[in-house]
Amino acid sequence: GQSAIICVTYVFFLEILFLWWTDCLSMFFWEVNTKPQAGSEPVFKTWKNAMHFQSTSQHDIFTLRRFLSLTTPVVFFSDITCQAQKPPHPLYVIGLSSTSDKMKYGHKLRFLCDNGYTLLGYTKVECLETGQWSAAFPICAVSCSPPTVQEGLIVSGLPDKDGPILSDHFITFSCADRSKYLSGSSELICGQDGEWNGTFPSCEDITCQAQKPPHPLYVIGLSSTSDKMKYGHKLRFLCDNGYRLLGYTEVECLETGQWSAAFPICVPVGCGMPPPLEFGDISTVVKNNYDHGETVEYFCQTYYTLDGQTHKTCSNGQWTGEMRCLRPCTVTLDDMRRNNIGLKYKPDSKMYSPHKDFLEFNCTTGSPDGRLAMRQQCIDGVMLLPSCQ
Ligand SMILES: *[C@@H]1O[C@H](CO)[C@@H](O)[C@H](O)[C@H]1NC(C)=O
Ligand SMILES: *[C@@H]1O[C@H](CO)[C@@H](O)[C@H](O)[C@H]1NC(C)=O
Repeated sequence: GQSAIICVTYVFFLEILFLWWTDCLSMFFWEVNTKPQAGSEPVFKTWKNAMHFQSTSQHDIFTLRRFLSLTTPVVFFSDITCQAQKPPHPLYVIGLSSTSDKMKYGHKLRFLCDNGYTLLGYTKVECLETGQWSAAFPICAVSCSPPTVQEGLIVSGLPDKDGPILSDHFITFSCADRSKYLSGSSELICGQDGEWNGTFPSCEDITCQAQKPPHPLYVIGLSSTSDKMKYGHKLRFLCDNGYRLLGYTEVECLETGQWSAAFPICVPVGCGMPPPLEFGDISTVVKNNYDHGETVEYFCQTYYTLDGQTHKTCSNGQWTGEMRCLRPCTVTLDDMRRNNIGLKYKPDSKMYSPHKDFLEFNCTTGSPDGRLAMRQQCIDGVMLLPSCQ
């Protein structure tokens, strides 16, 4: 009876003393009064009629047995700890204990990633009273550095808010200016090694190439300093005399870097068929077309006389060279008889005298009437006849 109570009281007093001494007193009452929060497991978990608390103090695990009465449970006080071990490369943790993998309530860890990796998650965690870290440990992901922004280069597919560019991420490039073209790859992918699979492209001026063409083609609009001309540049073409342009007279530099059409060529100007000659003909087989500089030879029919040049020449598309065939003169016996004349040196017959030929007549009866000389010349088919009376 009595002694037992004293004993209990005595033990209780000692216990209070011990709690006070171990700095657990306030915590003990706090724990009991507030019935430790959910999560502060195990709360009032019975273990062989004992209540089990977890302490939020800085003490190591220790066990305190309380003998309040026969039914009074055993109370355990134990530190709250969070577990953490050295993570594998490339994650580094600052604040790990070197001796234990258990860290106390309130303990903080900081995280770092090795070069070339980007930390995804929280950089700091803290050991909560629940025995859990305030957040999951971060991970270190491979990331590529963002492309250097070049003016006029449009980059699509970058993560929002300058977030990390993780491996397998695609970005695409284009040029803002229509007069520029993308030099390099239009698509890059961030590799597992944190490197882009190629160099960043750049926007270059679209140019078309052109050089001074050989004679007889002339180009207007060529640059004197460079054989590269910008997008939209125009060239005009001319041919030297005697040539005609076959193709486009103007080309423009397109965004493909090509001229809008192939350059034209200069073909010698043709004259077509040579013109016919009255009372004459051409000495060779006539072609349908003649090039600049070609000639054809003409001749006149029998008794006709060629006056002028013997050849026509194709020159810049025109036939040059003039000639005609002058007609012969025909003097018939009847004509002569009417005028009482005859041929002085040739037997009288129907005959042709070519142009410029002279014929001398004598009188068949009487004597010359003196109007015309007895010697006459054929002029282009006309021969005047003297007469005798
Ligand atoms: C990078 O990879 C992408 C996708 O495979 C491909 O389209 C692109 O051509 C590559 N770039 C280079 C420079 O290899
Ligand atoms: C005219 O000339 C012809 C040829 O020489 C000659 O035969 C003829 O006798 C001449 N006539 C006259 C009248 O002299």
